[in-house]
Amino acid sequence: MDFLAKKGSISKIKTQCAVVFVINGKLLDSAKELDAQLCGALSSVLKSGDLEKSAGKTAWISVPSSPTKLPYERILLVQAGSTTNTNTLSSLQWQKITAAAAAHISNSKAKDAAVFCDSLTLTTDGHAAREMATILAQSFVKSSYRYTTTKTDVKTPLLKKVSYVCNDTKNAKLGLAQGAAIGLGINSARELGNLPGNICTPSYLASEALSLAKANPKLSTKIVTEKQMEKLGMGSLLSVSRGSDEEAKLIVMEYRNAAKTAKPHVLVGKGITFDTGGISLKPGAAMDEMKFDMCGAASVFGAMHALVAMKAPVNVVAIVAAAENMPSGRATKPGDVVTSMSGQTIEVLNTDAEGRLVLCDALTYAERFKPKSVVDVATLTGACVIALGSHATGLYSNDEKLATALLEAGKQAQDKAWQMPLWDEYQKQLDSNFADIANIGGREAGSVTAACFLSRFTKKYPWAHLDIAGTAWMSGARKGATGRPVGLLVEYLLNN
Ligand code: BES
Ligand code: MN
Ligand code: ZN
Repeated sequence: MDFLAKKGSISKIKTQCAVVFVINGKLLDSAKELDAQLCGALSSVLKSGDLEKSAGKTAWISVPSSPTKLPYERILLVQAGSTTNTNTLSSLQWQKITAAAAAHISNSKAKDAAVFCDSLTLTTDGHAAREMATILAQSFVKSSYRYTTTKTDVKTPLLKKVSYVCNDTKNAKLGLAQGAAIGLGINSARELGNLPGNICTPSYLASEALSLAKANPKLSTKIVTEKQMEKLGMGSLLSVSRGSDEEAKLIVMEYRNAAKTAKPHVLVGKGITFDTGGISLKPGAAMDEMKFDMCGAASVFGAMHALVAMKAPVNVVAIVAAAENMPSGRATKPGDVVTSMSGQTIEVLNTDAEGRLVLCDALTYAERFKPKSVVDVATLTGACVIALGSHATGLYSNDEKLATALLEAGKQAQDKAWQMPLWDEYQKQLDSNFADIANIGGREAGSVTAACFLSRFTKKYPWAHLDIAGTAWMSGARKGATGRPVGLLVEYLLNN
C-alpha cells in the first residue's frame, strides 16, 4: 500500500473515497465544505442520529454526479467522539478511529482514499503530526491483511493508495513511512503465526530468514544446524526436537545499521512450530492452536522486517530457537536429565515445558554478541493467560531500567505489557534432586517460575522476558495471530 502526505482543499483532491470527521457533534472544516456542496447531506446524517456518538462509528455517503462536480465517488463520515479539549484526541482514540475507517474502506470497492484530518491533533507532547500519521498508516496496513495462503475463497482488499491530507506534510511523511513499516512487520508476524504447522516448520522459518537477508544488504543470516548445536553443547534445545522428524534450527539474523562499536540489542524468539507437549502429551481440545507456539519467533521476524523496511539506524541481533515438540520412541521422557550450553544440568520433569528448554540455550548463545540488552519473546505459559488474560503481555526483567523502557514502549505503541515479580523466593520451586535445576516449578505461579528458569541463564546482561501466551493470538471465530508484540519491540528499539 502506498501512502502520500498532501496539502490542499477538499474540493481539489481527487480520490474514490474522501474520509472526513465529526468531533464533539460538529463537522470539521472539510466535512463542512462538502456539506455545503451536497445540500446538507452530512449534517442530515448527524441530525438523523444515524451516526452513533462513540468514536469509530462511520456512515457512508454516496456522491451524486450532478449537480455537484466533486472529485469523489463516496464519502466516509467518521465519528471521532467527544473530547474535553476541542479537537485534541488521545493516541488510543485516534487509533480506534483510523482502524474503524480503514476496516470499512478495505471492505469497500475503493482503490484509493484521502483522509482529511483538518484541525485534529493529539494530546502527545511534540510530534503530533508525525504520530498521527504513524498510527494512521499502521491502521491501514493492518486492516489490509487477509490470510490467503491455504484458503482459496478470500477476497483481498482493492485499496492500494492512501493520501493523508494535513498541514505539516513534512512530518506526516516521516510518520507514514514509519507506520507503514511497523504495519508490514505486524502483518508478516501474523502470517507466520497463522501458517499451519505442516508448512511453517523450523526449516521453513530458516528459509524465511535467508530470503529476508538476501533482499537486504544490511541484514545477514546464519543457520545453526543440529550438528553444530551438538558441538556447542546445546543439549537442552536438542532434547526438545529429539522426538520430531523435523530438524531444529537456531536462526541468527544480524541487522547492523549503526556505528560498528555500538553494542547490539538482542531479541530471542521461541519458535516451537508445533507443541504437542511431547511425551507429556497435551489434551486434544484446541491443540491445533499450538501451531501458534512460534509466535514469539514470528514477532522477532516481524520486528526485523519493520526495522529493515524503515532503514532504522540501529544494531539488532535476532535469535530464533526453532523446533517441533513431538512424542516418539526417541523423544525425551519425564525424568531425563540434559546438559545445557551453560553447563547447568536440567531435569525434564514435564516435556510440555519445552519453551524454556529451547530458550535457555539461545540465551546462552546470545552472550557472544556482548549485548546491550536481551529481550526474549515467548508463548511460554498457560499460567500467564490465567494471570493477565489477553490484554497485557507478561513482563519479567533482571534490570529495572530495561523493564521501564519496555513498559513505556508498550504504552506508546498501544501494545501493553505488565510487570510481574521475579523474586528470589520463587526460585526454590525449581530445585531438583537429580539435576542443577528442574524444568517445572509446580502449580503455583507457573508464569513466574518459567521466568525464574530463564533467569538462571541470563546473569551476564540486562535481560527481559515477554510472556505473550495470552496476547499472541485470538481464539474462537476470530482465530488468528495478532502480530503482538511487534509494535512494542520496534518502539523500544527506536527509543534506544
Ligand atoms: N506453549 C505452551 C504454553 C501455552 C499453553 C500458551 C496454552 C498458550 C496457551 C507451553 O509450552 C506449555 O505447554 N507450558 C505448560 C507448562 C507447564 C507444563 C509447566 C503450561 O503452561 O501448561
Ligand atoms: Mn508446551
Ligand atoms: Zn510451548
